[in-house]
Amino acid sequence: MAFGDSNWLLFALLAFSLWAVAFGSDSESKEFVLTLDYSNFSSAVAKHDFIVVKFYAPWCGHCKQLAPEYEKAASLLSSHDPPIVLAKLDANEELNKEIASEHDIKGFPTLKIFRKGQKIAQEYKGPRDAEGIVSYLKKQSGPASAEIKSADDATNLIGDKSIVVVGIFPKYSGEEYRNFTALAEKLRSDYDFAHTLDAKLLPRGESSVAGPVVRLFKPFDELFIDFQDFHVDALEKFVEESSIPMVTVFNNDPTNHPYVIKFFSNANAKAMLFMNFSNEIAESFKSNYHAIAEQLKGEGISFLLGDLETSQGAFQYFGLKMDQVPLIIIQSADGEKYLKANVEPDHIASWIKEYKAGNVLPYRKSEPIPEDNSEPVKVVVADTLQDIVFNSGKNVLLEFYAPWCGHCKKLAPILDEVALSFESDADVVIAKLDATANDIPGSSFDVKGYPTIYFRSSSGKIVSYEGDRTKEDIIDFIEKNRDKASATTTTTQEEGQKDEL
Ligand SMILES: *[C@@H]1O[C@H](CO)[C@@H](O)[C@H](O)[C@H]1NC(C)=O
Ligand SMILES: *[C@@H]1O[C@H](CO)[C@@H](O)[C@H](O)[C@H]1NC(C)=O
Ligand SMILES: *[C@@H]1O[C@H](CO)[C@@H](O)[C@H](O)[C@H]1NC(C)=O
Repeated sequence: MAFGDSNWLLFALLAFSLWAVAFGSDSESKEFVLTLDYSNFSSAVAKHDFIVVKFYAPWCGHCKQLAPEYEKAASLLSSHDPPIVLAKLDANEELNKEIASEHDIKGFPTLKIFRKGQKIAQEYKGPRDAEGIVSYLKKQSGPASAEIKSADDATNLIGDKSIVVVGIFPKYSGEEYRNFTALAEKLRSDYDFAHTLDAKLLPRGESSVAGPVVRLFKPFDELFIDFQDFHVDALEKFVEESSIPMVTVFNNDPTNHPYVIKFFSNANAKAMLFMNFSNEIAESFKSNYHAIAEQLKGEGISFLLGDLETSQGAFQYFGLKMDQVPLIIIQSADGEKYLKANVEPDHIASWIKEYKAGNVLPYRKSEPIPEDNSEPVKVVVADTLQDIVFNSGKNVLLEFYAPWCGHCKKLAPILDEVALSFESDADVVIAKLDATANDIPGSSFDVKGYPTIYFRSSSGKIVSYEGDRTKEDIIDFIEKNRDKASATTTTTQEEGQKDEL
């Protein structure tokens, strides 16, 4: 499913807000962040009780943005007791790649928290600015659940901005307490946990309960919920489900971002309404949308309301245009997208009904078809993929690239040479597609990184190219996998005819 992948979308959405911290120089004399590599990673992790490792790549832009913040956080934390150590590892370095793959590093930067005595590192899910990193890590290095002993404790821990899961117990022992603590340990990077012997200290809910009961406080919808099943799995499900708002709001307010992350990490279809929150019609959109979300609760669709001001990432990702706003886009669980541009508040419900009935055609992002495509390497966009790659009856080598990708830039002149060497061969096409600007059918191509190169022979056999990125090797590969010219001609005609029917 490659770039229909939700994480990628999430990344695109948040890229412009969470990460956009303009910062000056990172030229500090003393480095507080430890540099690790394959030779000393294991010993460093074994030596420290609490160490955070940033897996990065030198070419990655978001890594560069994070670097000065991370260094600043390391310096602020350098005197913290107990010690919190910040380290980094260049996961792009050949000899370090094994460590990165052992820790399941899929994108950059990825931060992992290693605690002494815990086999599995915990994913860092905190903010990306120095202050945020510091406060998140301070919390992560303390106990998984904080005790509430006074009304002040409760006020400090349970604000009106985040989710807090509080266990109310008659005593701090027994299976319920142990299960609660186990869950707190497991989900500590996602939620704040607290426990108390006295429900009267808590700001909301029945104050006479003795417990055991779990009371989840949240800043939206019904504001708190009680739960009494202490099976670890049931408890986890309860916490996860209760912490998704009826409608997730995506705007400049960073306290909403954890919910945005949750929105994208669940398996539901995702309905996203983008509009200008400053517009006077915004209120009627909001109330209609909320009513629809409530009506469709439990039917496998999650709802997000996004402000135009913060949605550049989404617009780029989906290939949307400002003149389509207000718009609603649904990404279904199988990755298909459905778009209703210039929607009016009253039309949302009926359009979603049509979508659910299967009456809406999928939407596909494409760059415009290039007017001039005479360079040796042909430009393919989503709208020409069928014509140039699938139905041309030719042997096509297709590179999926991203405009910002350094390896792609290195490959470009090599592909030019390959294309030139096949220039007089009408049966071979060398082509490229900007995979960030065009939707690609995940059923045919699995594009997880850039560049990804596929070859489709004229008879339809698809193979991915895994060889060295040299002219000679690519040419050899094409010669080995291409179909004979005679077969090609037949296929072309057949497919051409089929198409016209
Ligand atoms: C790990 O080894 C690298 C390369 O030898 C070195 O630059 C780095 O400082 C070492 N890190 C630690 C924490 O010893
Ligand atoms: C605690 O969790 C375990 C594992 O889910 C479960 O078997 C046990 O029944 C739970 N205890 C209570 C009191 O719910
Ligand atoms: C949103 O609407 C306000 C008020 O009409 C306007 O000033 C602002 O430029 C709009 N924002 C965008 C991104 O169009």
